[in-house]
Amino acid sequence: MQYSINSSDLIKQTSDCLIFGTYQGKRLSQSAQLLDKHSQGYIQKILDQGDLIEECGKSIVLYNVPGISAPRVLLVYCGEESNLSVTDFRKIIGCMVCALKSLQIDEITSFLTDISVKACDLAKHIRQSIELIEDGYYCFDKLKTDKKNKMSPPKRFIFNLPNSQESGKLTDTIKEGTAITEGIKLTKDLANLPANLCTPTIMAESAKKLANEAGLTINILDEAAIKKAGMGGLLAVAQGSQEPVKFITLEYRGAAEQKPVVLVGKGVTFDSGGICLKPAAGMEEMKYDMSGAASVMGIFKTITELKLPLNVVGIMPLTENLPSGTAVKPGDVIKTLSGLSVEVINTDAEGRLILADALTYSERFNPDVVIDMATLTGAIIVALGAVATGMMSNNIELALEIEKAGQQSQDRVWPLPLWEDYQQQIDSNVADISNVGVGGGKSITAACFLSRFTENLHWAHLDIAGTAWRSGLEKTATGRPVSLIVQFLLNRCKNYKK
Ligand code: BES
Ligand code: MN
Ligand code: ZN
Repeated sequence: MQYSINSSDLIKQTSDCLIFGTYQGKRLSQSAQLLDKHSQGYIQKILDQGDLIEECGKSIVLYNVPGISAPRVLLVYCGEESNLSVTDFRKIIGCMVCALKSLQIDEITSFLTDISVKACDLAKHIRQSIELIEDGYYCFDKLKTDKKNKMSPPKRFIFNLPNSQESGKLTDTIKEGTAITEGIKLTKDLANLPANLCTPTIMAESAKKLANEAGLTINILDEAAIKKAGMGGLLAVAQGSQEPVKFITLEYRGAAEQKPVVLVGKGVTFDSGGICLKPAAGMEEMKYDMSGAASVMGIFKTITELKLPLNVVGIMPLTENLPSGTAVKPGDVIKTLSGLSVEVINTDAEGRLILADALTYSERFNPDVVIDMATLTGAIIVALGAVATGMMSNNIELALEIEKAGQQSQDRVWPLPLWEDYQQQIDSNVADISNVGVGGGKSITAACFLSRFTENLHWAHLDIAGTAWRSGLEKTATGRPVSLIVQFLLNRCKNYKK
């Protein structure tokens, strides 16, 4: 969909559908009042009939409203005037998309730009709207034979600019929002693919394609090179699978002399648990265990499109985790790239083994900061559900920077402690450390494990196990934390090239 801003005359608007807000107590938003005036009280009269249920996001479609050119009007209930939270607002836009989806139309103009949302200026309104609209219209149907029933989404969405507002900054917002949703879409498309159609080799092909299109430097290590490098963690996980293992780095240079931000994404294209096999119920969702790597790809798509003036490196260790006669076994001791030996107590704690090597590897880029994104623990879902991504960091400034980007993008994180007190839980009496923690706090002990490989780095770990996809019948990748990380990068380069 194409997004733009415009401030044309309401009466002359010829979009297929105009959207207006109403408030508690059957009251009209400012632009809806204007519409009411042009239609000689038609709108207020309908509202007074009480059809529109006063619940955030509920809406009604009106046809051929007198006094205007546009054939349809969508009235959306927006709650209590001047007491609307960003969460309410997101719900309203989500519901609005649901309503729009049952109309076969090409062009929409939204006058919801005049409703005021707490801690949300027009730029944020637009950015949030673009992301939610694209999310609402997203559909993963490339594996369905019959696409006949699919409607084509609208082509243009116009944000009406209230008189008082400047359009300059908002053009940038639209550019950013569009680029972010394209990155998110790539992440979703990759993560939604089933594991048989998204092997490490196929991920490598996708990365090559992205690198070619976007002019990125790419380096793909195969098994021999990974062995030669000494990545014992990645190899241990990969040894149970027939699919060739890959270790990919992408490099984007947008600035001359500047330490890069390194992004590491867990890329387990299928996590069966290995010899410590997972239960069958819901195991199909473990195709999403490469969501971290998919996010790296999406973020690179966005930042190359926006030509951000900074340097970013992406690292993706890619493998399957399967049981077989050659698979790593509980009790096996492996040697990681860093030199630390690890006792593999549970083969299902595989993410940290491959991330350990990737984090050690990141040191060679002399990074400013390193952020890993990983569907690492089921425990983070118990702690935070599907709302916040879990964040653990060895650097408070970095943690605050990420937290702020989360608030801005509404792709939010919540911190968990990485105190020394937890470290003893991963002691081993055979090797340097164990790959699982004894006792509770499983998300934290997973991060403790990673912290042993990031002692020389400013590092943050994002556990996206609860946020990278939605479960159940409507299962789909969400594209998180692409929006968060792009916001984090945008903040680092306020003056990026236009
Ligand atoms: N990929 C899983 C984490 C996961 C589980 C994500 C469920 C989403 C839903 C990870 O590799 C894993 O299996 N972690 C184990 C660690 C445990 C063995 C210490 C877990 O969380 O159960
Ligand atoms: Mn696992
Ligand atoms: Zn996993």
